[in-house]
Amino acid sequence: MNDAKPRLTKDGIRIYDRADFAGMAAAGKIASQILDEVAPMVLPGATTAALDDFIRNRVTELGAVSATIGYRGYKHASCISVNHVVCHGIPGPKVLADGDILNIDVTVILDGWFGDTSRMYVAGNLTRKAERLIQVTHDALMLGIEQVKPGNTFGDIGHAIQAYVEAQRMSVVRDFCGHGLGRVFHAPPNVLHYGRKGAGAVLEEGMLFTIEPMVNLGRPETKVLSDDWTAVTRDKSLSAQFEHSVGVTADGCEIFTLSPANKFHPTWG
Ligand code: MF3
Ligand code: CO
Ligand code: CO
Repeated sequence: MNDAKPRLTKDGIRIYDRADFAGMAAAGKIASQILDEVAPMVLPGATTAALDDFIRNRVTELGAVSATIGYRGYKHASCISVNHVVCHGIPGPKVLADGDILNIDVTVILDGWFGDTSRMYVAGNLTRKAERLIQVTHDALMLGIEQVKPGNTFGDIGHAIQAYVEAQRMSVVRDFCGHGLGRVFHAPPNVLHYGRKGAGAVLEEGMLFTIEPMVNLGRPETKVLSDDWTAVTRDKSLSAQFEHSVGVTADGCEIFTLSPANKFHPTWG
């Protein structure tokens, strides 16, 4: 890889080499493994700070570095977003209650490569409406990923997600998006989870980015609390999110953050 002169598309999207995919896969695997490992700790009575302590220690033990500690003043190794928190929930003394649903989002750096992934968990028993929200959000992510191949556009990804979610009478959050990543945490493009077929930049082999749709049971609007991080639904409806880091290959994509133990969904063990 030539770090001095990376190739950029006219949209400013960096094109990585085939050899770079191994670095992304190694980083993504560590982030996803940590999400596997934390699953048994997500129980009623646990604090979100305890989950974050575990994650911070595992990042170090696995030879990686947290991408979020020190990022724009953020101090934690994960974001933990409970119930109506859409994203960027700050771990703390909050005690999980039976039926709470939560997204845990971990980003690690390994040998300079970023692995960014999040998924949903439940403390105790999953209610029917929460289960449906989580299933729709996960299916929406995977439908978006199915659109990732050279020649398709970012609009094709957003459209697939939005069309599916809205057909289920749920809403797609507009205020946050996926992002290019690779040797940096957040790079062009903004990966929107809504849009029109054929809109936006054309996908090319070697692009690396996240897809991370946030889906609400109610309306899509969000607001950020006075801590400057925590984003919540304005109508206090439940929200869910899943995130994968992917790379565009010659005929599709590689998902770097698949669960090593196939635990990506709360009902999968
Ligand atoms: N991991 C988040 C993302 O998917 C970003 C978290 S930034 C933090 O892009 F500072 F809030 F941790
Ligand atoms: Co991300
Ligand atoms: Co993330």
